[in-house]
Amino acid sequence: MKLDAYWMPFTANRQFKKAPRLLARSSGMHYWTHDGRQILDGVAGLWCVNAGHARPRIVQAIQQQAAEMGFAPPFQMAHPKAFELAEEAVKLAPAGMTKLFFTNSGSESVDTALKMALAYHRVRGEGHRTRLIGRERGYHGVNFGGLSVGGIVSNRKMFGAMLAGVDHIRHTHDLSRNAFSVGQPENGADLADDLERLCALHDPSTIAAVIVEPIAGSAGVFLPPKGYLQRLREICDRHGILLIFDEVITGFGRTGQPFAAQTFGVTPDLMTVAKGLTNGCVPMGGVFVKQVIHDTFMNGPEHLIEFFHGYTYSAHPLACAAGLGTLATYAEEGLLTRAATLQGYFGEALHSLKGLPNVIDIRNLGLVGGIELQPIAGEPAKRAFNVFLDCFDKGVLVRTTGDIIALSPPLIVERQQIDQMVDMLRGAIQRAA
Ligand SMILES: Cc1ncc(COP(=O)(O)O)c(C=O)c1O
Repeated sequence: MKLDAYWMPFTANRQFKKAPRLLARSSGMHYWTHDGRQILDGVAGLWCVNAGHARPRIVQAIQQQAAEMGFAPPFQMAHPKAFELAEEAVKLAPAGMTKLFFTNSGSESVDTALKMALAYHRVRGEGHRTRLIGRERGYHGVNFGGLSVGGIVSNRKMFGAMLAGVDHIRHTHDLSRNAFSVGQPENGADLADDLERLCALHDPSTIAAVIVEPIAGSAGVFLPPKGYLQRLREICDRHGILLIFDEVITGFGRTGQPFAAQTFGVTPDLMTVAKGLTNGCVPMGGVFVKQVIHDTFMNGPEHLIEFFHGYTYSAHPLACAAGLGTLATYAEEGLLTRAATLQGYFGEALHSLKGLPNVIDIRNLGLVGGIELQPIAGEPAKRAFNVFLDCFDKGVLVRTTGDIIALSPPLIVERQQIDQMVDMLRGAIQRAA
């Protein structure tokens, strides 16, 4: 097979093409490589495949839809499954988030939410609210909006000045006070007050929205300190700032409730999703919106478009079919709350790795786990990458960011498979010492 033409995303292309890792098939908790090796999926593909692989209802829904109607224009036209999926999805969302706008990815969801926030303020006569606030070490995809509010240096540094008028609050990662926390860390609610600092600097009347991940995933599994999200909510309310939760990885059961907003008891104004919405089978994202925000747009002559935004593939028929099959599977198998019943077992298994060489932190909540390693001096990210390669070689797929290993298995995972993942990780971490 020729590997030349494909320039791979977020990949060490030269390393990969010397020793390719090709996946050919998947089912349930497993992938199979092109040469037939079985790989236990420790990361739900890429935080996507929450119901596990090749689930029959989803497969059938996509196949049937492809035969029935492969595309329908989404502007000034629609098809029934778009409405059905939105109706089913908003039933799962926090109270008051009654509207859903469809996109095709997490990055598009983020840019859509940022644009909605700016336009919302303008429609209600506060067009001076133009600033967007993100957080250091946040990940909100790779489009210019999400990149601008994101806070991962390597993702940003090549791409110029990005959006104007963006600022960042401090991140919450604090090993000196919170290492080896089980569940939410005790210390750091006060870091939310950094938003007050930016309000004092810019004046709150210039700020449209703040966006954070309830749990930062891609940047390395950072859990919100107890009380932190509540405090952010209070500050936003005090100053008329919209709060956006980026639930692209936390949505659809990852934390033990349908959304992390429910797990943490804090309702945002807008909520971005993707990945688990269709179990990763067909690209799709969305933005859940509070009724009052949506209704603010519904003014002026009725024949005019209210929000000049959308994508050719918004509410794509195959994605809607996949989404309906996915939500039905979640409901039938109780998957959206299954992480809550497994988190104790999962947490204990992960924390049993404490004391291994170079393990400087372990953190967990729901079915999300992070293991942070001491970097090799002068070679950041190498130790964790070695663990990733070793795990893949032995038969388990994990993910790494820098020297942090992330686990986020499909929500159908069984206890014995958790043990298997952790055992393989134990060996790989020991070998990487
Ligand atoms: C929190 C968050 N937001 C946005 C994105 C971007 O999603 P996508 O890669 O589908 O554009 C991701 C992807 O991992 C994410 O974790």
